[in-house]
Amino acid sequence: MTLSGRHIILGVSGGIAAYKSPDLVRRLREAGAEVRVVLTRGAQAFVTPLTFQAVSHQAVHTDLLDADAETGMGHLELARWADEILIAPATADVMARLAHGLADDLLTTLCLATEAPITLCPAMNHIMWQAAATRDNAEILERRGIRMLGPADGPLAEGESGPGRLMEPRDIVTALQGESSHSAIAGRHVLITAGPTHEPIDPVRFIANRSSGRMGFALAAAAAQAGARVSLVAGPVKLTTPPGVERVDVKTADQMHEAVMARAAEADIFIAAAAVADYRVEQIADQKLKKSDNSLTLNLKPNPDILKDVAALPSGPLTVGFAAETESVREHAQAKLVDKRLDMIAANQVGDGMGFDVDGNTLDVIWADGEQRLGPAPKRDVATALIQLIGERLNEAG
Ligand code: C5P
Repeated sequence: MTLSGRHIILGVSGGIAAYKSPDLVRRLREAGAEVRVVLTRGAQAFVTPLTFQAVSHQAVHTDLLDADAETGMGHLELARWADEILIAPATADVMARLAHGLADDLLTTLCLATEAPITLCPAMNHIMWQAAATRDNAEILERRGIRMLGPADGPLAEGESGPGRLMEPRDIVTALQGESSHSAIAGRHVLITAGPTHEPIDPVRFIANRSSGRMGFALAAAAAQAGARVSLVAGPVKLTTPPGVERVDVKTADQMHEAVMARAAEADIFIAAAAVADYRVEQIADQKLKKSDNSLTLNLKPNPDILKDVAALPSGPLTVGFAAETESVREHAQAKLVDKRLDMIAANQVGDGMGFDVDGNTLDVIWADGEQRLGPAPKRDVATALIQLIGERLNEAG
């Protein structure tokens, strides 16, 4: 009964998979959740409010501008009531409307008006799922911290086969239960670094790297979803802050070091996912450097090693480092685990289209007496798995 007392709004949009949604309501209630159902206009072409009223034992919500409904539980009250909004099935259309912030019906309005986490279970024709517009919309939604479960791969209603099936209701409930049972992380303070650093050369130029920050942001989202208090120290990235995460923006490694050290002593877990520049320019020019025919030499000096400094704190947090390597990944990671005195290290291959600035990732996670491979999978799934693994280590460390 891990969903015991949890207030879940189940949004149902108009796809054939909506016939599975009453079963989902039944399973959510069996797991202890209180469920209120919102049907879009399209959904009502496939399933009726009466069906959902019978299985949820609650009035079903269908209209935004219905005076009677507003005098019952109005849309803002409903948005506040929710601990979680789950949309299953989520059609390509509902994804597009959410991605663009539309509020043209009750369900999309609730999604804008709530502070609760939102999970989508997409279901559609496989060509629609793979269409460029849907890919972009999915990426926008995930960047904003909206979680996707599925779609599953397999036979589709129209007789074709591919990715587009609604994840089975049983598996959706298991995923929601898993999320609220990351109790080792719940209530803990997790400090995360993400993104690259920019090391200035002169007022207009800097040294940087290819890190997009996506892995660190996905970890922040996963930790927040697992109930942690999350502080995210981010280098210059173009990403939206996941819901419920405190974000501190920095540019240089020095600034990142300062922001982290100010918070590290009272953190329970430190995850260094940033690609921190190892060196900075010794003499930053006051004015833009002028071009000449001569070669130019920049003197570089080492930056502080943020992770090493946190790991050396007397009663510091559990430390998790990343080792992004282009070769001998495991050997380098193992050496780093020992050298920096870390509790855990996540190694991944970068370069040649892997690791940096892409959506998928594979991590080899190594600790003193164990190791586990996570992925290949989208960064959000790898992040959720890593947060779970860190929770288990925290439990073992007592
Ligand atoms: O030594 P290397 O840079 O390969 O180690 C990578 C790990 O150390 C990553 O977790 C990275 O975030 C962290 N790091 C750091 N400060 C630095 C350099 C790396 O926190 N100056």
